[in-house]
Amino acid sequence: MVERGAEVILVTGGAGFIGSNFVLDWVEGGGRVVNLDKLTYAGNLENLASLEGNPAHTFVRGDIRDVGLVGRLLEEYRPRAVVHFAAESHVDRSIVGPEAFLQTNIDGTFSMLQAARGYYEGLVGAEREGFRFLHVSTDEVYGTLTPEAAAFHEETPYAPNSPYAASKAASDHLVRAWVHTYGLPAIVTNCSNNYGPYQFPEKLIPLMIANALAGKALPVYGDGQQVRDWLYVGDHASALRAVLERGRVGETYNVGGGNQRTNLEVVTTLCELLDELVPGSKFRPHKQLVTYVADRPGHDRRYAIDARKIEGELGWKAAESFETGLRKTVHWYLTNAAWVADVTSGAYQQWVTKNYDERSKVDAGEGTR
Ligand code: NAD
Ligand code: TYD
Repeated sequence: MVERGAEVILVTGGAGFIGSNFVLDWVEGGGRVVNLDKLTYAGNLENLASLEGNPAHTFVRGDIRDVGLVGRLLEEYRPRAVVHFAAESHVDRSIVGPEAFLQTNIDGTFSMLQAARGYYEGLVGAEREGFRFLHVSTDEVYGTLTPEAAAFHEETPYAPNSPYAASKAASDHLVRAWVHTYGLPAIVTNCSNNYGPYQFPEKLIPLMIANALAGKALPVYGDGQQVRDWLYVGDHASALRAVLERGRVGETYNVGGGNQRTNLEVVTTLCELLDELVPGSKFRPHKQLVTYVADRPGHDRRYAIDARKIEGELGWKAAESFETGLRKTVHWYLTNAAWVADVTSGAYQQWVTKNYDERSKVDAGEGTR
């Protein structure tokens, strides 16, 4: 059980992909965490198994929309910061069922802000000076870029295109308003696509690894020429630490690793890594499993982050290149087959049927140009 104290932080969504990596990193660095998570399909306590019995981590199962619960946790543990990860995070799911995205990402952030505001108003002295509300957001709020366009910077106008991106954009605007209207000391980070250990295999990289190992089709949407700017999750965690320590209240920081790759390049690189690391696989060369399927509706063509502000102002820089990070990630999935088997049982199968069976197989590029 975490004791009250100035260095405790309240994390939401700490059983998800980025949240759990952040919690593990924070505790390893000597910090203490109260972790509020609803444990949706995307939340998994196995990610935190190494913290079992560790007094630096307290897990609370609950909904961020429960403003009373959040208020009680703040009063009880008196954290020096809230790091708000909890969200519905998968674009394809937001297209199939947007309601949960509005409920968690918008209403949930509203509840978190109200609870944090109530707590902050009661703080005095050093506790008040040091308190921060860190809202973890995405580069998808900026919309899509043409191939020649400059990367997203902090002044790029918001132009969200998917229900997921719109719900995150709305939550960012709420945070901004709570800073300006109520003086809540909040900071927003907008990060590019993450990858690494504990990512649920509905997202591109872990899905492709899991499918390739099982000899299943590797479903590339549309022509596979969409560009994402990839960041290793450990680098996202270090960026959030830097923002918590040195970030300026009311500011936004874009976070990215400068690794723009087309989806097809990512899938091809993964296939080559698996050819090398699983030499006995009967599915080699894994590239033969690539299958073009119908595109995502409203699919954003390109994301790219200009991270000069966080690099220059806070001295943060990504430690992993795409090559080193991807190798680490493939290695992690190869040595954690039991985790993958566990999270891909049950409800996951229904999602795969819904998302992929309805996408007809198409020839390369068809339907996107
Ligand atoms: P995730 O889907 O893996 O995890 C989300 C977590 O939030 C899960 O543990 C889930 O149980 C929890 N949760 C969902 N609804 C909740 C609710 N109502 N109350 C309490 N807990 C709830 O997501 P992720 O990929 O780890 O992303 C974390 C955050 O980072 C999100 O806010 C996302 O928008 C943002 N982000 C993600 C990426 C990325 O590439 N994954 C990039 C930039 C920003
Ligand atoms: P994803 O991991 O869902 O992240 P986001 O949509 O938030 O960027 O998808 C990354 C890219 O990969 C995106 O352009 C969609 C594409 N993609 C596929 O081509 N096939 C798939 O099966 C998935 C899940 C994604």
